[in-house]
Amino acid sequence: MAWLGNLGTADKSTSVLESIFTNVTDAILIIDEQGFVAGANPAAERMTGWSAEELIGKIHFCDICRGMANCVEEASCVDCFAKRLSMPSFEMKLKTKDGNEYAVAASSTRLIDQDVKYLVVILRDMSEQHRMERERIQRMMTNYVIQAQEEERKRVSRDLHDGVGQALYSILVGLKVVNQLQLDDNIRNHLEDVQQMTTRALEEVKSLAVELRPSALDDLGLVPAIRSYNKRYEQTFGIETELEIVGNKRRYAPVVETALYRICQEAMTNSAKYADCDKIMVRLVDSGDMVELYVEDDGRGFDTDQIRIQGTGLGLYGMKERANLLGGTVEIKSAPGEGTVVHVMIPLTDRGEPLHVDPGTYSR
Ligand SMILES: Nc1ncnc2c1ncn2[C@@H]1O[C@H](COP(=O)(O)OP(=O)(O)OP(=O)(O)O)[C@@H](O)[C@H]1O
Ligand SMILES: [Mg+2]
Repeated sequence: MAWLGNLGTADKSTSVLESIFTNVTDAILIIDEQGFVAGANPAAERMTGWSAEELIGKIHFCDICRGMANCVEEASCVDCFAKRLSMPSFEMKLKTKDGNEYAVAASSTRLIDQDVKYLVVILRDMSEQHRMERERIQRMMTNYVIQAQEEERKRVSRDLHDGVGQALYSILVGLKVVNQLQLDDNIRNHLEDVQQMTTRALEEVKSLAVELRPSALDDLGLVPAIRSYNKRYEQTFGIETELEIVGNKRRYAPVVETALYRICQEAMTNSAKYADCDKIMVRLVDSGDMVELYVEDDGRGFDTDQIRIQGTGLGLYGMKERANLLGGTVEIKSAPGEGTVVHVMIPLTDRGEPLHVDPGTYSR
C-alpha cells in the first residue's frame, strides 16, 4: 500500500484506514450485490438517521435513494447506477429515517473482493450549499424586481411630466388666450372654472410625477431630493421635519441614493400613518467608509417583536431587503410610547459605491 506512505505495518495501515472510515465527514455506504447496505460509517448514520445495525442487511439502497438530481442522471437511474462500475460524481436525493429528503453530492465505485462485488457510495450533504444558492437566487430576483420597479417608476414619471403635463400646460395657455377675447360674463365665468380645474390637474400630475420618482434624485442627488420630499411632506401631513447632514457631503452610486431615498420615504410614511407624531428628524451621517441614515419620530412607537400589521406589511421588509442587497442593514428601535428610530447603515467604498455586494445582485 505504497499510497499510504510510510505508516509501518499492515496492521497499522488497516487501523489508519479504519480511522478514516470512522472519522470522515462524508457518509460512506458499502452496498452488496443485492443492493443492501453491507457497511456504513458514523457519518452515514448521522446523515440517514439510521444506526449501522438498522442499515446493515436491512435497508436496500433504493429505500434511501429518491432519484438523481437532473434528468440526464435520472435516465441513468432507470438502469440504476448500482449496476455500473463507477460514477465519479452525481447528485441524488437522500431519504432519511424521519422521512425528510435532501440533496447530496455522491460518487460511487465498485470494489471486487474475491468473489463478492461491493459498491462503495460516498455521500456529501449539499443542503447548506443548496440553501445558500436558493438565498442567492432569491436576492437576485428581489434585486431585479426592485430595479425594474424603479425603472418603471422613472418611465411613468417622465411620461406624466413630459406627456400629460405638457398637454395640460398647452391647454392652460390656450384657455388664457381665449380669456383675453371679448366674452360674455357667463362664458368667462365658465372659462375661469375650467382654467382652475386645469391648473389643479396640472399640479396633481406634477406631484404624482415627483412622488413616483423625483428628478432631483438623479439630477441633484440624495440630499436635495430628501429636502424637497420633506417640504412636500410637511405640507401634506402637517408634521414638522428637520434634516441634518453630518460628515462628508458627496454623491453616492445611484443604487445607494435610490435605496436611501426609498427607505427614508417609507419610514416617514409609516410615521405619518401610524405614529401620531409632531416632528420627524432625518439625519444623514457620512463617515467616509459608511453612510448612515436615521429617521426618528416622536410618536407612539410600537413593539418590534410583535408587529401589528396595519397596512400590507411590506414596508419594513422592503427597507431591509433594499439595504441588504447593498451589503447594509436596517435596525428599527421602537417601543410603545417611545417613538421610533429607523437606522440604516451601508458600508461604502471611497467612490460612494456599496462595499460588500454579491456581484450577481448589483447592477448600476
Ligand atoms: N413609525 C411607526 N410608528 C408606529 N408604528 C409603526 C411605525 N412604523 C411601522 N409601524 C407599525 O409596523 C407595522 C408594519 O409596518 P410596514 O411598513 O412593514 O407595513 P405597513 O405600513 O402596515 O404596510 P405597507 O408599508 O406595506 O403599506 C405597521 O402596520 C405599524 O403597525
Ligand atoms: Mg409601511
